[in-house]
Amino acid sequence: MSGEEVVVMKNIHKIYPDGVVALRGVDFTVKRGEIHGLLGENGAGKTTLMRILYGEIKPTRGEIRVFGEKVSFHGPWDAIRRGIGMVYQHFTLVPTFTVKENLYLSLLSVNPKASMDEALERVRRIVEETNLKIPLEYLVEELPIGVQQRVEIVKNLIREAKILILDEPTSVLTPVETEELFKALERFKEMGLTIIFITHKLKEAKRITDRITVLRRGRVVGTVETNRVDVKDLARMMVEREIIFKIEKKPARRGEALLEARDLHVLDDRGVEAVKGISLKLYRGEIFGIAGVQGNGQRELAEALAGIRRVESGRILLHGRDITGLSAAERYRYGLAYVPASRRIGLVSEMNIVENTALTNLYRVLMKMRVINWSKASSIASEVVRRLEVVAPSLTTPIKYLSGGNQQKVMVGREIVREPDVFIVSEPTQGLDVAATEFIRRTLIRLRDEGKAILLISSDLDEVLQLSDRLAVIYEGKFMSVGRPEEYTLEKLGLLMGGVSV
Ligand SMILES: Nc1ncnc2c1ncn2[C@@H]1O[C@H](COP(=O)(O)OP(=O)(O)O)[C@@H](O)[C@H]1O
Ligand SMILES: [Mg+2]
Repeated sequence: MSGEEVVVMKNIHKIYPDGVVALRGVDFTVKRGEIHGLLGENGAGKTTLMRILYGEIKPTRGEIRVFGEKVSFHGPWDAIRRGIGMVYQHFTLVPTFTVKENLYLSLLSVNPKASMDEALERVRRIVEETNLKIPLEYLVEELPIGVQQRVEIVKNLIREAKILILDEPTSVLTPVETEELFKALERFKEMGLTIIFITHKLKEAKRITDRITVLRRGRVVGTVETNRVDVKDLARMMVEREIIFKIEKKPARRGEALLEARDLHVLDDRGVEAVKGISLKLYRGEIFGIAGVQGNGQRELAEALAGIRRVESGRILLHGRDITGLSAAERYRYGLAYVPASRRIGLVSEMNIVENTALTNLYRVLMKMRVINWSKASSIASEVVRRLEVVAPSLTTPIKYLSGGNQQKVMVGREIVREPDVFIVSEPTQGLDVAATEFIRRTLIRLRDEGKAILLISSDLDEVLQLSDRLAVIYEGKFMSVGRPEEYTLEKLGLLMGGVSV
């Protein structure tokens, strides 16, 4: 019978060990046989809520019932035993094993005595019932992403999952593969499976789900029946908030174009096109914001501009000079700075402030014979500490002992002291406390007022709205639109971020 509540999560709170409050009293209910969309921006708490349901992490507070029974999972195995399966954005298959071996492993994990024949028999039945095509003899690494995902799904079915959670499954798929996945999900539904479908894509949510729960900043905005709402309603639910333009800033005094991209095409790590023909001009004295949910090509765009990712086609100009073929180091020398999104990538945690600062200032501290002039490096580091108000015991403290905010200040500061003209800054305040966030944002505005050009890539809508003089919304590797912040309502932004043109 449909209608029975197979998942009931009540008053779920989650505070991560580092103090981040990801969920603030979430109620979430899923009915048997439905496709339930879980919709929200970056950081809304979707993945956290589902990792809790899958037993991977524990809620700080709250109660969970699965098929009517109260549960307290100590790990995914407990969840799997209760019939819950999860397909992550990053797959968990063994790439150098065949599909057959991977599926057998999956069965063994719940039934250590199972034979390969048993596994194959189960696969045969699943294939018959679902019409999914599974190339059993191939190595996983030889398969296209869409097929790997299918194997990942079957891996859950072979363990007899009754509730299947898919975390942003279409973010790795082509449109054709997406359509195939949707057909499969509809088939699963007919078979009586229950599906939880995480997404930020409005059209997909509308197309495939029966009900949708919208999360925003760790809270449930509402649960709606899909056929009673349109994409505009969903966009509003996803992003609506009080807009506070807290940060005072003078009008931009825009100068000449410093950085230009022309019809850029860039591949991601898997060789799939992630930037699909982006053009932009960044002017002196402005902050150009790129808003969008992470994973829509912003990282590849930033890396291509910074010179650490190959450009497939298109041109990049800095000060009117074609730099498309130049290395990152050469671009640095011509006045480009890049602050990556992840402090784990940008900083070497065992190294101290002086060493981390020297990393991107090498040409300033290298003497003849390629020896580092440490007293020069120290004076640059102390300039970073002074200008960015870094709080640290000493310049020789390993960076890992600094707070996230102070690490971020080092990462931004070591670029500022080089006096570049163009800053490409990715998610500059992610995971920082309020004070550090304010400081970094004010610093970016100060740089803009000093006549620098700043390309700000951020999935934080408030940040982009507060700081940008112009902003673009990126979705699946393309700009949905470019305009001034005042030209966007929140609803419009939500629609664009969710892939709906307005
Ligand atoms: N392992 C973790 N440790 C600390 N904070 C985390 C962790 N995972 C997620 N967060 C934080 O929790 C919040 C919710 O994240 P997440 O559940 O991934 O959101 P969503 O899937 O909706 O994008 C974000 O602020 C995120 O930075
Ligand atoms: Mg997520």
